[in-house]
Amino acid sequence: MKKARIVGTGSYLPEKILTNFDLEKFLDTSDEWIVSRTGIRERRIAAADENTSDLATRAARQALDMAGISPGDLDMIIVGTITGDYPWPATSCLVQKNLGIPGCAAFDVSAACSGFVYALDMAARQIESGAIKTVLVIGAEILSRILDWEDRNTCILFGDGAGAAVLKAEDGPNGVLSSHLHADGSFWELLYQPGFGTRHTPSAEGMDQRLHLVRMQGNEVFKVAVRSLSDVALEALGANGMAVADIDHFIPHQANRRILEATARRLGLKDEQVVINVDRFGNTSGASIPIALDEANRAGKIKEGDVVLLDAFGGGFTWASSLLLW
Ligand code: ACO
Repeated sequence: MKKARIVGTGSYLPEKILTNFDLEKFLDTSDEWIVSRTGIRERRIAAADENTSDLATRAARQALDMAGISPGDLDMIIVGTITGDYPWPATSCLVQKNLGIPGCAAFDVSAACSGFVYALDMAARQIESGAIKTVLVIGAEILSRILDWEDRNTCILFGDGAGAAVLKAEDGPNGVLSSHLHADGSFWELLYQPGFGTRHTPSAEGMDQRLHLVRMQGNEVFKVAVRSLSDVALEALGANGMAVADIDHFIPHQANRRILEATARRLGLKDEQVVINVDRFGNTSGASIPIALDEANRAGKIKEGDVVLLDAFGGGFTWASSLLLW
């Protein structure tokens, strides 16, 4: 059986930086509170003329460049996002148009912050089955457009960005070793965007009630996130006969520093095993894992033969892992 191996990564972060001190100017909050509760110092905000497909395309071009693969060689594009340019068509179709490669399969995955890891699983299984050879997987979000900038409980946490990976069929042991995907829809109301779908169709009244903006019960999310991130990491290790000490790079969804530290403590991970960039980019939902992966990869920290564990948790709730032999 062929392995699905990541042969290139890329990322794009919008230029505009919004610091905690900027937030202090229009919100009843402080840098001290945000840093102590979340570890976030700043986040990126997309420009008015930038859309999710633009961020995704920039990250994709970087990943393709690193892989040395021309867009025309792609068999499939999958974008993990909950903030696509449109409710439909899929943002992946717009990325395909931007890359100028009509014909290959393109679809989005809606699994909130787990979107990229879910998409990676789809890509890997398509490649392992022998059906296709080369897949572009992207996580891209512009959360800033669906945040309630008057709600200090939520708007301080999130940021915009995109990350991408190119997967290729290869012989040999390196590639995706396993992935595990989970969801529990009974938690849907703890983190969601009420409008505008079929339940709340667009209306002036709905806008007044701010139904189009993110709602979250932070404390509840926190508890389930730590438990799920730890459980799915152990599940991945168990399935591969590995121990926590075998992980060279643990790349969790960058929700906030306290969630990451609690998860790392629960698993018994050492600081040097854990990749954290939430201080600079906040929580970019489906984009957070591929951005962190690309940063670590470009910095030359990930070497051939390293064990990389991607660990995601998000709205739905959804949670997922992907264990890679680099
Ligand atoms: N600035 C100042 N004060 C604030 C702010 C703020 N930005 N936000 C909330 N507070 C206040 C609250 O109003 C509350 O005040 P009160 O006691 O007078 O009512 C007080 O701070 C404590 O609020 P808590 O909600 O108990 O604060 P907590 O320590 O739980 O931290 C936080 C809140 C950071 C949201 C935390 O619950 C958390 O990290 N939850 C996880 C949520 C998350 O990461 N979601 C991301 C999406 S899911 C995912 O990606 C995994």
